[in-house]
Amino acid sequence: MKKMVIKGTGRYLPERIVTNDDLTKFMDTSDEWIQQRTGIEERRWVSEEGNIGASDLGLEASKIALSRAGWVPEDLDLIIFGTLSPDLFFPGSGCLLQSKLGLKSTPAIDIRQQCTGFLYGMEIADAYIKSGHASRILLVGAEVHSTGLEMATRGRDVTVIFGDGAGAVCLEGVETDENVGLLAASLHAQGDYAEALMVEAPASRLNPRITHEMIDDGRVWPKMDGRNVFKLAVKRLPEVSQVVLDKAGLTLDDIDMVIPHQANLRINQFFQKSMNLPDEKIYNNIQKYGNTTAGSIPIALDEVIEKKLIPKEKGTILFAGLGAGVTWGAMIFRFM
Ligand code: UT7
Repeated sequence: MKKMVIKGTGRYLPERIVTNDDLTKFMDTSDEWIQQRTGIEERRWVSEEGNIGASDLGLEASKIALSRAGWVPEDLDLIIFGTLSPDLFFPGSGCLLQSKLGLKSTPAIDIRQQCTGFLYGMEIADAYIKSGHASRILLVGAEVHSTGLEMATRGRDVTVIFGDGAGAVCLEGVETDENVGLLAASLHAQGDYAEALMVEAPASRLNPRITHEMIDDGRVWPKMDGRNVFKLAVKRLPEVSQVVLDKAGLTLDDIDMVIPHQANLRINQFFQKSMNLPDEKIYNNIQKYGNTTAGSIPIALDEVIEKKLIPKEKGTILFAGLGAGVTWGAMIFRFM
């Protein structure tokens, strides 16, 4: 039976480092508040010049993943692009990335799953591989948040947490009887919470989609009911992680590393505590990058591999995340 294996990973973070102190120039906040409430010390934002979009960051991460897989873009059967900050309202960033890779007809899908974009992307890729519809897939999670954040005290709860960045993985279907690949997944959505984290305008449901008044009222900036999202995350992340462990017939002893979405270090500390995980079995990098949404898990995965924190063969990872939608989920992946 065909199993999905990871052939290469890559990440790209813009060079511009924005510290918590830098943010105090635009809004009433402090390094102390941000570190205490979120764990974030600094984040990367794209350069203010140059009109850099999610597909540009995705391209840099993809080039690294492709070269590590030993693939050229023409080897790809499919591109899956996860982002909530697409370059354009439409068409999707996957199409833009496809063009930047020099491809002329390779299919490209955008998925709008926010913080669980990588998790949904992995399950979609696995289904394509198992059904025989594709055998070499590039999955990218990339965000440029910084151009869409309110640089004022009104937006401080959201602005201080988000960072720009991209991660990419090359996935291949391989015929093997070994228990490798995507061992279990459990993905969910509950649109009742759509307004707990959203950008309201411009939008098709508004007529007109955008007005000067909407801009003045700040409806173009992300709004979040942070406490509610926090509560959902600390409850659902351990629950859904246990579901995938049970589905795979594994215990935490079989897991080499847990890579959670990087939304808030405190969420991940609660999660770690409820799962009774030792420090060396959970990976966090939010301190350096903030919340890069669809980019966060593949960026962390690339670092975990680079730092050799999991065995090269049969390394087993549990991924988990919750974010806007709300969407949430977990999955267990084992390397070949
Ligand atoms: O990845 C997408 C999913 N998102 C998440 O998982 C995020 C989940 N939520 C969170 O991470 C946290 O709720 C936040 C970090 C966003 C906020 O932390 P909190 O501990 O929940 O703070 P809060 O919203 O309850 O606000 C506490 C106080 C408020 O002041 P008052 O009303 O107590 O006077 C806020 O106005 O902190 C104030 N505040 C700030 N102060 C300084 C909010 N943001 C800031 C700020 N700097 N940046």
